Amino acid sequence: MDKRELKYFEMRKGHFGLVKEFWERTDGIKLTVGDTEDEFGSYLKRNKGMSFICKEGRMIIGTILCGHDGRRGFIYHLAVDKNYRNMSIAKTLIGKSIKVLRSQGIKRCMLMADNINESAKSFWTNMKWRKRDDLQMFSIDL
Ligand SMILES: CC(C)(COP(=O)(O)OP(=O)(O)OC[C@H]1O[C@@H](n2cnc3c(N)ncnc32)[C@H](O)[C@@H]1OP(=O)(O)O)[C@@H](O)C(=O)NCCC(=O)NCCS
Repeated sequence: MDKRELKYFEMRKGHFGLVKEFWERTDGIKLTVGDTEDEFGSYLKRNKGMSFICKEGRMIIGTILCGHDGRRGFIYHLAVDKNYRNMSIAKTLIGKSIKVLRSQGIKRCMLMADNINESAKSFWTNMKWRKRDDLQMFSIDL
């Protein structure tokens, strides 16, 4: 695979259809509350310039959704097409989002990995992210 054919773009509301299709066919990505077109659009509007896609030609092969609440950065739906893995695409997407978070003064970034997603857990460990055994996640639907 020729790496030079890969291009990175800021994620935009208009990408929703292709991005959703990509997430639906990618193992390890669970679509949930917040993954409708309207919510996708308002997330990107609220967190401008922090989320990215990677494309080869017209095909989406990588995504990262990123934002912050003024205190912590958050990453969702980091995914790379299985035919393009181990080419540093995820690393590049993370780097792009982290650069924007840093530029906005954010000092820590978090993410949730599904407990059964062993591959994701080993990926983040390999990337030197700290596994937080001291925390438990709670949520409520509003
Ligand atoms: C996890 C995922 C995004 C990694 O994408 P990728 O583009 O293949 O990753 P990269 O090529 O950027 O890898 C960066 C580094 O992590 C390593 N790595 C990649 N996948 C790994 C894994 N599953 N476990 C451990 N290390 C891994 C690479 O070897 C590379 O190591 P190096 O920097 O020491 O050379 C991809 O496997 C994926 O889309 N998985 C399914 C969706 C998913 O589970 N997302 C995570 C949600 S929390």
